[in-house]
Amino acid sequence: DRSRVVIGRTLSFLGDPAIEADAAVRYEEHGAVQIGPDGRIVWAGALADLPEDARALPRDEHGAKIITAGFVDAHIHFPQYRMLAAPGRDLLDWLERFTFPEESQYAERPHAEAAAEIFLDRLLANGTTTALAFSSSHLVAADALFAAAERRGMALATGKTMMDRNAAPGCLDEAEASGVDSRALIAKWHRRGRARYCISPRFAITSTEAQLAVAGELLRDNPDCLMQTHLSESLREIETVKALFPNDPDYTAVYERFGLVGPTGLFAHGIHLSESECARLAEAGAAVVHCPTSNNFLGSGLFDIDHVGDPRRPVGVGLATDVGGGTSYSMIETMGEAYKVAMLKGRRLSALRAFYLATLGNARLLRMADEIGSLTPGRFADLVVLDPEATPVLAARDALSASIEDRLFAMMITGDDRCIAATYVAGAVWRGTAAH
Ligand code: GUN
Ligand code: FE
Repeated sequence: DRSRVVIGRTLSFLGDPAIEADAAVRYEEHGAVQIGPDGRIVWAGALADLPEDARALPRDEHGAKIITAGFVDAHIHFPQYRMLAAPGRDLLDWLERFTFPEESQYAERPHAEAAAEIFLDRLLANGTTTALAFSSSHLVAADALFAAAERRGMALATGKTMMDRNAAPGCLDEAEASGVDSRALIAKWHRRGRARYCISPRFAITSTEAQLAVAGELLRDNPDCLMQTHLSESLREIETVKALFPNDPDYTAVYERFGLVGPTGLFAHGIHLSESECARLAEAGAAVVHCPTSNNFLGSGLFDIDHVGDPRRPVGVGLATDVGGGTSYSMIETMGEAYKVAMLKGRRLSALRAFYLATLGNARLLRMADEIGSLTPGRFADLVVLDPEATPVLAARDALSASIEDRLFAMMITGDDRCIAATYVAGAVWRGTAAH
């Protein structure tokens, strides 16, 4: 029985603060979240209004800490968990020299099983309760990750990576087999408990036309599945796509031709998209996922959040670590990096909007907003408890903070995993695994 009341400052979003302003934000200085026996939220609001029948329940008192929905990472690579800080000259060099050899290890189920536990521990240690993860091309690796997440009660989306050319043989599959394996995994895992399947062609460079066609058929037959890939990340990548697909007018058109640009599509990076590409992505209801620490580390370029999200034809924008191209598992650090990238582009990213993107915004893109992403009755109690005084720098700053916005801003600029005071998965506190 997970029934309890979690008490502290509570923060939740109903919508995008950039669009709906203050109406999108629910904040209680003395707030409470009531969790039911099944680990779902029963009630959330001001502590003073706590329902009568909840007053005798066990209490987790978090004082001046901030309770919000667990972070959602909209793009991360499971088989790259030990690759952070592999120094590539650019994306393609980094993939060839470090990434493909590393991912080849995931053909072995025991390796993938051990890695899955470490990977999920790292997510939870950083307050990330749900991720949309790339796996490797091996069926056993995606299967192991789904199983590990299920044992922990986590909502997770992943899929077997489809890649049948231009990479090391050990991490490649074949077009037809990739369809067979994907279908087997969809049958086993999609909507089993909290799992969601994501059809996952790696990117245009590593799939033949035959395989992209298989991916398109998979999506047509399973329109409820998510679809993820990479798009318009680095200039050399874009040139290579041009050479491989000379008859398509641009990079996005390659995916369009195979039926891969639809409302459940999440396209990672999208740094160098033209106006036409953005308009077509918006028209299709597809989303672009901003991965700032990765883009900076690999020198891929500066994402323009106001160009992609232009309100005249807004493309949905997600936020993600992209570990191991990304340099941190922390969505807090990722928000801070996104803020700096916005500044360098002459844009602004408010702390409230950054926290929205990392919670409800990403949950919406993963089609999970009816289950996670906010402190709303009926949603799972996947929570993160944030300490706005976790470090000496933050403690000093907090004394001068007048508002929740000040506190969130200070955390996103100087905070990291030290700010994570607790992580709840479906109402249960994650206790951590010291070895990881
Ligand atoms: N494009 C294709 N594969 C990858 C990958 O693993 N990481 C990043 N950052 N970009 C990619
Ligand atoms: Fe990626």
